[in-house]
Amino acid sequence: MKRGTVKRRVFLGVTGSIAAYKACLIVRGLIKAGCEVRCAATQNALKFVSPLTLAALSRAPVVTDLMDPAHWDMAHLSLASWAERVLVAPATADSLARLAVGRAAGPVDATVLSTKAPVFIAPAMDTEMWEHPATAANAKRLASYGYTMLGPVSGPLASGRVGMGRLMDPEEIVRRVLA
Ligand SMILES: Cc1cc2nc3c(=O)[nH]c(=O)nc-3n(C[C@H](O)[C@H](O)[C@H](O)COP(=O)(O)O)c2cc1C
Repeated sequence: MKRGTVKRRVFLGVTGSIAAYKACLIVRGLIKAGCEVRCAATQNALKFVSPLTLAALSRAPVVTDLMDPAHWDMAHLSLASWAERVLVAPATADSLARLAVGRAAGPVDATVLSTKAPVFIAPAMDTEMWEHPATAANAKRLASYGYTMLGPVSGPLASGRVGMGRLMDPEEIVRRVLA
């Protein structure tokens, strides 16, 4: 484990960005740092990354459906109190909007809304989406709740363009969450 990092119980919420595959690198980095990791993914995130991959890397089941009878114990509440750090990465523009108004329809949003742990949000999206006043207002609102915004950063985007909106480097996300 790198100096300056602490082993933690980390919840990772994955949303439906093209950068969702990088959630696998984040899970791997957290596990490598000695953390326990539990993941939840939105239905749209599952179009980009398989729950089996997240489960195998995190060594734990992945919550994808709040209404699954297997979660009779209300997984979002138990994960929210279990977690010492709550991270959403990548966070879509839509998830920023939902979190900003306190929605709780899916396992990612519901866990964020239910936790008292420090929350970290790592947005990833196209430059136009990030720079839209609505997204800017949502990000500002999330920061006002005490959430730590991790990026985005400027760099090559999935669209082929270069600009603001790229997911912060997964290693840097892990470092910041554990610092
Ligand atoms: C190929 C593809 C890539 C996408 N990448 C992003 C992205 O990087 N960031 C983003 O905010 N939305 C992106 N979207 C749009 C989101 O998937 C869409 O807003 C979705 O409703 C988000 O759902 P979720 O936040 O519940 O996971 C992408 C859509 C497609 C089809």
